[in-house]
Amino acid sequence: MYLLIPAAGSGKRMGADRNKLLLQVHSKSLIAWTLLAAEAASSISWIGIISQPHDWEDFKGIIANLKISKPIEFISGGSTRQESVYNGLQALPANANQVLIHDGARCLATPDLFNACAEAILHCPGLIAAVPVKDTIKVVDASGIIQSTPDREQLWAAQTPQGFDVKLLKQCHAEGVRQGWEVTDDAALFERCGIEVRIVMGEETNLKVTTPQDLAIAEFILSHREQ
Ligand code: C5P
Repeated sequence: MYLLIPAAGSGKRMGADRNKLLLQVHSKSLIAWTLLAAEAASSISWIGIISQPHDWEDFKGIIANLKISKPIEFISGGSTRQESVYNGLQALPANANQVLIHDGARCLATPDLFNACAEAILHCPGLIAAVPVKDTIKVVDASGIIQSTPDREQLWAAQTPQGFDVKLLKQCHAEGVRQGWEVTDDAALFERCGIEVRIVMGEETNLKVTTPQDLAIAEFILSHREQ
């Protein structure tokens, strides 16, 4: 299975002056933890890292230390995650029929989750890892007034990996460009194009490391895993 890792973010919400994936958690960089999970997932055979060229040297140093055995390609990132994935799709080998996309910032996803998604995408056009939400979610307008309370039973928090038929995803991204859609995950493009996306049960610990608090939680989870 081909795996694309969007890793071209800036670290702005982290308050970092460089790519947050280069920050350390439990003695390794975030991107190192993500790559170790991908390396350990038997289903993954090729990894494309989508990132800004000025980070490539750092990433290559990290990869050399990890002794990753799988082929890794570097692909230039865009100014949004959507653009980065678009670039990644163009760089996939021609024989890639399905692809998993996994945010570099979700450094706690387990190899089992990669393998479950890789197996499931062989049987459907699109999927995402997701977990049922625990909080009651409110839809709020710009002035801070609640507009509605969606039924919690129907709400799931989207994660990655997300998996797709490559041909369909390329078509959906192209349609997104034509229509000017701005989305924060690839499943949203499938939804807008009217293509079914199914859920694979995600992991509560598969958080997207976004803020300094998330780094502390990731540190706790990783140190607990080793015991
Ligand atoms: O910013 P956020 O954490 O939501 O980004 C999700 C993922 O998308 C991260 O792994 C980040 O590195 C990646 N990203 C990207 N290109 C961008 C912005 C974000 O690949 N321009």
